[in-house]
Amino acid sequence: MKVVILDDADAVASYGADIFREQLQAKPASVFGLATGSTPLKLYRELIESNQQGDISFSEVRSFNLDEYMDLPPEHPQSYRYFMDEEFFKHIDIDRSNTHVPPGNADNPLTACREYEGAIAAAGGIDIQLLGIGRNGHIGFNEPTSCLASRTRVKTLTEETIADNARFFSEDETQPQLSITMGIGTIMEARLVVLLATGESKAEAIKAMVEGPVSAWCPASALQMHPATVVIVDEAAASALSNPEFFKHIERHNQALLARIKA
Ligand code: PGA
Repeated sequence: MKVVILDDADAVASYGADIFREQLQAKPASVFGLATGSTPLKLYRELIESNQQGDISFSEVRSFNLDEYMDLPPEHPQSYRYFMDEEFFKHIDIDRSNTHVPPGNADNPLTACREYEGAIAAAGGIDIQLLGIGRNGHIGFNEPTSCLASRTRVKTLTEETIADNARFFSEDETQPQLSITMGIGTIMEARLVVLLATGESKAEAIKAMVEGPVSAWCPASALQMHPATVVIVDEAAASALSNPEFFKHIERHNQALLARIKA
């Protein structure tokens, strides 16, 4: 697990966006695993800008989102399909039919979960999986106690996650209690995982993920076993780490090594 600690949320977004830009330049037909939430928004805006300036293209990209609420139609403003369309897809040159979000309103969610896994496999697997992290250490909607080998499935949300997301729902709307999410096993198969976190509210989750035991109690800790995960955090999200200076030291060496290879 590589941990990169940067000054602020803008720097986190730029560092993350560079990884996607480089991937697209190397492989235009990349398969991206995408995330919703407030954290990736700045990264999406950077990628939109690069796309509109003609520096990168998404025309051959296929995407698979991590999760979706159950029982919300895709056109519902709180659905993650709607979020992705509004915040990202409609601003870039991606073919919308190549974008996938778990079908939260499928008649048979069990079949739909299996089909989602099949579609990821048929696309050749995920090149880069983008992640945020919940205050409780969840990735996607894999809440604490999730099986670390889980696949795409129906998952009940915790009270904490429901409370954290309540801000997006108006009082007269019924907030979903269930979701469909890629499993931790699904996420672990991505060739590269890029996890972003900003703000002090994520500090304890970051500490548990990076330093804690690998445990279903902190689902993100499974990434300690992933061969290529980059955790990009701002100072506030890094503030509970025991030794942030060590990660900064490693990153300085990594950058020096990269400069040497490129020279
Ligand atoms: P956030 O959500 O980016 O809105 O903080 C992250 C998550 O719950 O995975």
